[in-house]
Amino acid sequence: MEENFWKQLKKPFFALAPMDDVTDFPFRTMLALHGKPDVLWTEFVSADGLMHPDGLKALLPKLEYDGEAERPIVAQLFSASPEKIRQAAYLIADLGFDGVDINMGCPDKAINKQGAGAALIKSPSLAAEIIIAAKEGVASHHRPIPVSVKTRIGWNEDELETWLPTLLATRPAAITVHARTRKEMSLVPARWDRIARAVEIAKGTGVLIIGNGDVTDLADAHAKARETGADGVMLGRAALGNPWVFNAHKKDIRVEEKLLALIEHSKIFEQFYGEGHRFDVMRKHYKAYANGFSGARQLRTTLMESKNAADAERIVAEFIASVGAEIKRSVLE
Ligand SMILES: Cc1cc2nc3c(=O)[nH]c(=O)nc-3n(C[C@H](O)[C@H](O)[C@H](O)COP(=O)(O)O)c2cc1C
Repeated sequence: MEENFWKQLKKPFFALAPMDDVTDFPFRTMLALHGKPDVLWTEFVSADGLMHPDGLKALLPKLEYDGEAERPIVAQLFSASPEKIRQAAYLIADLGFDGVDINMGCPDKAINKQGAGAALIKSPSLAAEIIIAAKEGVASHHRPIPVSVKTRIGWNEDELETWLPTLLATRPAAITVHARTRKEMSLVPARWDRIARAVEIAKGTGVLIIGNGDVTDLADAHAKARETGADGVMLGRAALGNPWVFNAHKKDIRVEEKLLALIEHSKIFEQFYGEGHRFDVMRKHYKAYANGFSGARQLRTTLMESKNAADAERIVAEFIASVGAEIKRSVLE
């Protein structure tokens, strides 16, 4: 029997975007603790890499999740090979994920050179083959999970009118549309009118449309769902430094809460990767946490020198001591 969590979601639903080197286990844990999205995504993982013994070992940490706290969770794959996608989709089902998503939107040159990510927009028949291969891969598992796709509206030009029907014909469970072309990278505002059009094109197919691009918070997400009729809205960058972004009950965030979250995240990060390991990734999060209050810029700069969670905790304590404890009670600007 097919298990399809998508059918059980109340609409509109709100999803965490897949973000490479961001939406890892520690980051998703922070969201699960402070305001869980309706659907979580892993960062993207190479299907070709997963199907190689050395690659599998290196990539498995990206697919770590807490089966109690993070469901429903979707793992995202990228590849230009239907065969690798077929095998990797089976593995994703075997790892207990609730869904598998295929990346057809990544603008990274190295990925596009392999023919993967957004480059698949230029090869619609291969893209369709890949989705069908993913479906076959999960169908051969005793727990067949739904297959979804995340893409953009086109490569150089807006090709939604032809590209979306190609995807819809393969009947994935859901399609996330990042409302920009590949050429636009993230340089122009997302075109939410095209999400409304995607909803119209998909009408009657049963395929869910998730809109994505530049959503600032949950109120904005609700408004965009209302305006476009999208079944769901996906938020990415708005979640950086803000583990409450999906929490409908959280109103004002005090500076102290943000600083505590920074330390909590650092500790979870360190516990997961080991002390000092990959701490450059954690420092990227500091840029987002140390933001929106007076003195934040100085704190940010100092945090760049931290090498582990204990350093970060000490730097935050010194910051509070230097600016005065009243900062803790103030609300973010
Ligand atoms: C640091 C970073 C990493 C990303 N990695 C991925 C990825 O692995 N897979 C993917 O489909 N999109 C990836 N994206 C794109 C996001 O999922 C999303 O489509 C984009 O950021 C627009 O949404 P936003 O404005 O809400 O952030 C990434 C974006 C950022 C900023």
